[in-house]
Order: sequence, then structure tokens, then C-alpha cells
Amino acid sequence: MTSESRNIVIVGGGIVGCSTAYYIANHPSFTKGTDKITVLEASKHGIAQGASGKAGGLVARWAYPKELVNVSFEEHVRLAEEHNGKDRWGWRFVNCGSWEGRGDVCAVDSGTGVGQGGKRKSLEKTLGLNPQDAPHSRKSKGLPDDLLWVEEGLTDTYSPMAATGHTAQVHPYLFTTSMMDLAREKGADLILGRATGVEQKAGHVTGVTFVDNDTGDTKTLSATHVVLSAGAWSSRVLSELPITKTRAHSVTIHPQPGVTIAPYVLFTEITLPKGARSQTVTPEIYARPDNEVYACGPGDDSALPATVDEVQVDEAACESVRKHVASISPALREGTVDKRQACFLPIVSAGGGPIVGEAAGIAKGLIIATGHTCWGICNAPGTAKALSELVFQGKIKCANLKKLHPSNFV
Ligand SMILES: Cc1cc2nc3c(=O)[nH]c(=O)nc-3n(C[C@H](O)[C@H](O)[C@H](O)COP(=O)(O)OP(=O)(O)OC[C@H]3O[C@@H](n4cnc5c(N)ncnc54)[C@H](O)[C@@H]3O)c2cc1C
Ligand SMILES: *[C@@H]1O[C@H](CO)[C@@H](O)[C@H](O)[C@H]1NC(C)=O
Ligand SMILES: *[C@@H]1O[C@H](CO)[C@@H](O)[C@H](O)[C@H]1NC(C)=O
Repeated sequence: MTSESRNIVIVGGGIVGCSTAYYIANHPSFTKGTDKITVLEASKHGIAQGASGKAGGLVARWAYPKELVNVSFEEHVRLAEEHNGKDRWGWRFVNCGSWEGRGDVCAVDSGTGVGQGGKRKSLEKTLGLNPQDAPHSRKSKGLPDDLLWVEEGLTDTYSPMAATGHTAQVHPYLFTTSMMDLAREKGADLILGRATGVEQKAGHVTGVTFVDNDTGDTKTLSATHVVLSAGAWSSRVLSELPITKTRAHSVTIHPQPGVTIAPYVLFTEITLPKGARSQTVTPEIYARPDNEVYACGPGDDSALPATVDEVQVDEAACESVRKHVASISPALREGTVDKRQACFLPIVSAGGGPIVGEAAGIAKGLIIATGHTCWGICNAPGTAKALSELVFQGKIKCANLKKLHPSNFV
């Protein structure tokens, strides 16, 4: 290696880490054989086992923070064009709206179980929405002609949340694994092991210590740059980081053969009768290509396990997501549940974020990229592009990310 060569270790093979590997490997200054990229992933099953494999997959111009969205949305469009994202990771523009109505619990055999895991909280995805962006809803209920998979009789109102072309989607697992595959084609490596610490000498990172999955041995990978993108686990690797987490459950449903589910993402507000009083539940429902439907429920405060492989799935929480969806949709009520899963999304404890940039105050060459809350799928390409510039050009060029700089948080 020449003195100029870069040895980049990326801790965490979620969408942020894998996209960063892709952008670094495709940066014009990256020299295969001289520069080195290693993604270190703790799961014994490989990459994308956490939130990045289990998210909804919405990519929206109305997401936040805007300085990342503005770069990311265009990058999603470009990546999909360049690598056939439509076939490879289910890229498409999608309708997105808020649906309010009542659930038919009799049709589903009533159940509104909250499951374990403590009090429920909103994933806050609609915070970035500017009400002025939404066109006026049609008269009466506003239900579009092709949105046939929710029951008209149970609908109070439907209103589009953004203009056509402002909301798209990817299949998050396929997007993340594609980014890694494309990075490997350009020379990036994947190592399975759990990082335990970042090494430094004279104020500069020198490597990452990790427990090798295969042998159980503790080893060190040397590095000129370390990208910490371990999602909700990031503060386990670097305790200074103010990163916390929320767990959320989701299910995927395959409708009966022959039933077509029109491309809508619905943010629902479903009123369910519960004894004398009523209860409101708010699952998000995502139609996907290949007639798959994904739905997720509220977040909870359950504790973060040692690794993504030990995340507990509360079957009751999954079942309540399924029942809530079934209560408004005969087509999905009759479908088959395929996956019942849970994951942790990374959150900056003080609010704001994500944290993106070099934490030179801790060590030069230490780059933080975490805390993407409910918009990491949308914002990964912008984050990754910015970091590839940081590594090769010494500063972020594609956006002004001052507000996200680590010095604001650590
Ligand atoms: C229910 C739900 C729905 C969502 N829907 C959307 C959506 O529609 N649109 C959107 O934009 N976002 C969505 N999100 C948010 C999105 O999933 C996250 O913001 C994003 O996946 C975070 O990616 P990440 O790479 O930072 O973290 P992760 O996906 O958690 O990846 C971190 C990786 O680091 C690994 N790791 C951890 N510790 C170590 C270690 N010590 N050494 C090595 N590896 C380690 C983990 O095993 C994991 O693979 C949703 C999230 C949830 C929970
Ligand atoms: C993002 O783009 C919009 C529309 O082009 C623009 O109005 C806005 O100022 C941009 N915001 C940031 C923070 O870059
Ligand atoms: C990782 O370790 C586990 C347990 O030791 C083992 O079963 C698995 O095969 C290993 N994974 C890989 C890809 O080597």
C-alpha cells in the first residue's frame, strides 16, 4: 500500500453500511487493489438482518431531514435506473395516503392485543409532511377507483399525502443486499464478526477490534478510516454516542392467487370497538410488487439484545398487526402470513439526527453514520454519497450536513 492508500472498515452491514461500501467502491478516486473496503457484520446470517431487512421501504421527498432527502431521492432514482432497481429491488413510484375508518373486528375474530414490550409509541414518520404538499382530497370519502383492497363501507376518509412522483418504494432487504453485491463486484469484502472497539493512536483511528464469527477469536482489522454504522448497536461499539432504539413488529402477507393489490402505501387510523369504548390503532400498510403486502405496528421500549440474532419476536404483537390490517381489508384477511418479525430502529436520544460525519474530536478518520430513525431506507444513499466524498475529498460536497455533524451530538 502507498502512503495515500485508504483502508476503510465499515462496522455494520445494514443499509447505511452497505450503501457506504457501494459509494466508496464507486467513487472516481477509489483504486481497486490499492484502496481496501471491509464491511464487518455481527450477524452470523450475514447482512441486512436488522431494520434494513425488515423495514417498510418508503422513499419520499417529504421525508426528513431535508438536506439528506434532497440528495437521497435523486440518488434512489439514479441507482434504480443504473442497476435495474425495478427488477432487482422492487423500485417503483407508489401512491401514498392516509386512510381513516373503522375496523370490522367480527370478521377477524376480535383481538386488539398490544403484546409485551411496554408502552407503544409512534414511529413519527409523518412528522416531515407538509400539509400544503397534499392535493385536495376528492369529495366524499376520497377513495381512489383502484384502491379496492380496503373496504369502502368501513372507510371514512382517504387523502393522498403527497403529489404523484413524490413517493416511491424499495424492497429494503433486496436493496441492501444489492448494494453489498455491487460493492463486492468492485472489490469490497465482507467479514462476519462483532466489533468490540475502535483502536486509535496519536489521535487517529488505526483499526477495529472484533470477535470473529468463525473462530470466536478476537482480532484486529487495521484501518485508515472507520465508518460506524451499527444502527441501534452503535453506542455499544462507541459508548460516547447518544443512540437509543425502538423495537417494532411487522408481518408480510401474500393475498390469494389472482387477487391484485393496487400500489398504495396507507398510513391508517383504524377505530376498533372495544367493549363500551373504542380504540384507535395505526398500522402502516405497504403494497409491494409481486403481490406482497408489508404491514408494521407501533414501536415499543423493549431492551436491545447483544446482537441482531437475539432479537425477540413477540407473536402476539405480530398477530395484532395482522388482525388490524384484516379488519379493514377482506383481500388481506384471506391472505397468507409469510413473515412475522421484529427489529430495532436507531434513534438519536436528544432528537434530531441522524449523526453523519467525522468525529475528529474522538479520533481522526472516525466517521459516524447512524441514528436514521424511521427514514434510513430513504436516506441511506445520500448519507453514503456524502461519506464517500468525506473519505476521498476530505469534505462533504453534495449537501450541507452541518446540522448532522457529530460535534453537535457527542
Ligand atoms: C417497522 C419499521 C419500518 C420502517 N420503514 C421505513 C421506511 O418505510 N422507510 C425508511 O426510510 N425507513 C424505514 N425504517 C427505518 C429503517 O429501517 C432504518 O432507519 C434503517 O434500516 C437503519 O439502517 P442502519 O444500517 O443504520 O441499521 P441496521 O439495519 O440496524 O443495521 C446495523 C447493522 O449493524 C450490525 N451490527 C451491530 N453491532 C455490530 C457490531 N458490534 N459489529 C458488527 N456489526 C454490528 C447489525 O447486526 C446490523 O446488521 C423502518 C424501520 C422500522 C423498524
Ligand atoms: C431541498 O429541496 C427543496 C426543493 O428543491 C428546497 O426548497 C429546499 O430548500 C432544499 N432543502 C435543503 C435543506 O437542502
Ligand atoms: C458463524 O458462527 C456460527 C456459530 O459459531 C456458525 O454456525 C456459522 O456457520 C458461522 N457463519 C459463517 C458464515 O461462517
